[in-house]
Amino acid sequence: MIPKIKNCFSRSSPKRLWMLLVCVILSMTMFPGCQTSRDSSPPTLRVGVALYTQDDTFIATVSQNLERMAQDTEKEKNLKINLSIADGQSNQTVQMDQVDRFLSRGCDVLCVNIVDRTAAAVLIDKAREAQVPLIFFNREPVANDIQRWEQVYYVGAQAEESGTLQGQLVADAWLADQERWDRNGDGILQYVMLEGEPSHQDALLRSEYAIKALVEAEIEAERLASGTANWNRGQAAAKMSQWLSELNGQIEVVFSNNDDMALGAIDAIEEAGGDSPLVVGVDATAPALEAVKQGKLYGTVKNDAEGISRAMLDLILALTGGTDPSEVVELEDGHYVWLPYRPVTKNNLSEFLEGYVA
Ligand code: GAL
Ligand code: CA
Repeated sequence: MIPKIKNCFSRSSPKRLWMLLVCVILSMTMFPGCQTSRDSSPPTLRVGVALYTQDDTFIATVSQNLERMAQDTEKEKNLKINLSIADGQSNQTVQMDQVDRFLSRGCDVLCVNIVDRTAAAVLIDKAREAQVPLIFFNREPVANDIQRWEQVYYVGAQAEESGTLQGQLVADAWLADQERWDRNGDGILQYVMLEGEPSHQDALLRSEYAIKALVEAEIEAERLASGTANWNRGQAAAKMSQWLSELNGQIEVVFSNNDDMALGAIDAIEEAGGDSPLVVGVDATAPALEAVKQGKLYGTVKNDAEGISRAMLDLILALTGGTDPSEVVELEDGHYVWLPYRPVTKNNLSEFLEGYVA
């Protein structure tokens, strides 16, 4: 083979030059690692993304944004970003296996939306042993775990804030038109609370801070019922139907820890017929914004899915590119990136619809 190529070089008739070209192309496709012009092949980042479940509207939005932004970055920076996305099916054992696989295949960064927040320590130790930086998002491990290793980050939003904003949104509506919302005219706001997963920081704190905001606004409130529907529309519809029939027209406000459950409550209200109580959610997912537009959902609180994906991607690029992460994101305590929440009602809805330019 080698003498033949030498021959090609020594007697350069057009036919021989063509043969040489074919030889070179063939050897490049058969042995890509042996290409002479290495610089032309873009460097590849391998990123493992473990989701607690793919069957969650907000999480699916974060993951789709991440894919879209990674594709844009590939084009802009002449990079290849291999995102492997794994569905944890709400099962920590399944997710642990997925993480083990990511690490054994040699990923450069790990992004984890952890199923069970108490399992974080084991996961961090595995990542540290493999020296693979770890970015948790949306489901926050306890601070002690985050501090186990300097290469651990958390990207999310502060649950208290969403609770407060949701409570203020209801307080404003109530004070602006008490006659409409106070159905029984007793001056007290009767409500039900649809809660997310019991162990999730966003569920506990949103419920607590929404009611604190009513107290601050000096609105007397009475809880008629509360219960978990695990962020899920179907479960929320079932719970709400039960409350509607048990509580017989007494519900004035439905607080929901997220939009999917608020939409479930609306499904049940529509099915039952009659006047709708005031319903509020959190997330500002696409179907929830549509329901605000139609006047079915009074309001929601924007949980910044794009901001979370953007911050994760910025961290991924910094961590693999040798840049100090604090140069690309605002880092609190060396580990945390916090995204702000924003209230949404019909009044400012246009700012949140696609295509809006500030
Ligand atoms: C919350 C969000 C919920 C759900 C949950 C999953 O922040 O509001 O809709 O996605 O995270 O961890
Ligand atoms: Ca009342």
